[in-house]
Amino acid sequence: MWYFTSPQIIFGEGALSALDDLKGHRALIVTDGTLVNLGLVAVVTAHLDRARIAYAVFDRVEPDPSLDTVRAGSAVAHNYQPDWIVGLGGGSAMDAAKAIWVTYEHPELDPAEINPITELGLRRKARLITIPTTSGTGAEVTWAIVLTDTASGRKLGLGNRENVADIAIVDPSLAVGMPRYLTIDTGLDALTHAIEGYTCTWHTDLTDGICLQATRLVLEYLPRVAVDGKDLEARERMHNAATLAGLGFGNALASMAHATGHAIGARFHVPHGRAVGMMLPYTIEYIAAEAPERFADVGTTIGLEAGTPHASARALADHLRSFSRGLGQATSVAEMGISWTDYEAALEQLVDDAFNDASIMTAARARVPGHHPPRRPDRGPSLGRASQSCLRACLHRRQRAGGTLYARHSGWARADQCRSTRARQPSDADDRPRGRHERAFCG
Ligand SMILES: NC(=O)c1ccc[n+]([C@@H]2O[C@H](COP(=O)([O-])OP(=O)(O)OC[C@H]3O[C@@H](n4cnc5c(N)ncnc54)[C@H](O)[C@@H]3O)[C@@H](O)[C@H]2O)c1
Ligand SMILES: [Zn+2]
Repeated sequence: MWYFTSPQIIFGEGALSALDDLKGHRALIVTDGTLVNLGLVAVVTAHLDRARIAYAVFDRVEPDPSLDTVRAGSAVAHNYQPDWIVGLGGGSAMDAAKAIWVTYEHPELDPAEINPITELGLRRKARLITIPTTSGTGAEVTWAIVLTDTASGRKLGLGNRENVADIAIVDPSLAVGMPRYLTIDTGLDALTHAIEGYTCTWHTDLTDGICLQATRLVLEYLPRVAVDGKDLEARERMHNAATLAGLGFGNALASMAHATGHAIGARFHVPHGRAVGMMLPYTIEYIAAEAPERFADVGTTIGLEAGTPHASARALADHLRSFSRGLGQATSVAEMGISWTDYEAALEQLVDDAFNDASIMTAARARVPGHHPPRRPDRGPSLGRASQSCLRACLHRRQRAGGTLYARHSGWARADQCRSTRARQPSDADDRPRGRHERAFCG
């Protein structure tokens, strides 16, 4: 037995008008100052006015919201006693809204304690509406909550199946004003969700088709919307794609690009989508060295056929790297402006953080050698666990088929262009911990 969780989804142009018929008394809108300044909060409150619902606005959510922000928002909710919480914004505002809602219903819980196991019995005080203004995270339909512990500098993967929103309003008009860089960063997040949802070990028949369709949509419409942000058809298809990808990965899980991307994002303050999108091709190459079939499927879906599953998976990684580069996106750590010295100094912490990230659990190759990948809970206990040496190898390595994760030049170096370091390259099939001298570095 397994589950597929989703809010009621109202989508397409004009979807916001569904708010006009909302029944209730008081709504707490959880959002950020930028969205107030851009007038998007006013667009939503105009609808609440029509529904005769009073509202208060908590607009202090920062990108990658902290536990403290949630605590502050929760205090506002306790004072205001809303019967609706409205998460309006990107993933940050929507995640903060989810956590504020849970801790409003359960004042005894600290946000860091929200977990998938405790029975919460939510909806005694309020219900949740999510309204995305970026086309990326899918947080409007997932039950995941990502918060940052500013003390340790780590991102915490929290959430409980019960805290999925009641209603998600997916109206593309709210995303039209996104600047180009935000459009691309968040679009690559959606692409990473779609591909990791399809290739992680918890994928199901119910999520597979959704993930493949989301992949197709992003690859087709993100380049269009990157060129012309006012292309309304492309905006709408991207907004739908992000929600679809959220349903797909939210009901399966993510994988190694999220585990490593979270670590890099939190340590070096790289936006979420940019970090996971940069890691995606590298982690595909890494995982596909042992388990290429699902990646080959994705390749086939988008018209990449390369003979063997291994070759198809590598073709997919190459294609994704070219896709990102075509959008002007950084495709290595160095291109993100992170110095080798800083990267090297952070490496062990990155490995540790990625090792402790929930997304690593379902990577098809993040395991102790000789064990099987973790099973879904309904299929018996997990047989393996994430291997730190695996992550160290991935974060260290110079990719054999594609590029270098840390490349000091703008292009990525093919293996045969880096003969000087070839002898030191870790074997794809070897998960043993390595010393510093074995690190994969080409530049
Ligand atoms: N819960 C989940 O399932 C899930 C999934 C993926 C990522 N996340 C989390 O979501 C967060 C990232 O969310 P995000 O990528 O949507 O960005 P974000 O919510 O952090 O927003 C980034 C910036 O974009 C601005 N912005 C938002 N919408 C805009 C618009 N329409 N026009 C102009 N500016 C706009 C915001 O004000 C903010 O300054 C991270 O914390 C990440 O860990 C959560
Ligand atoms: Zn993501």
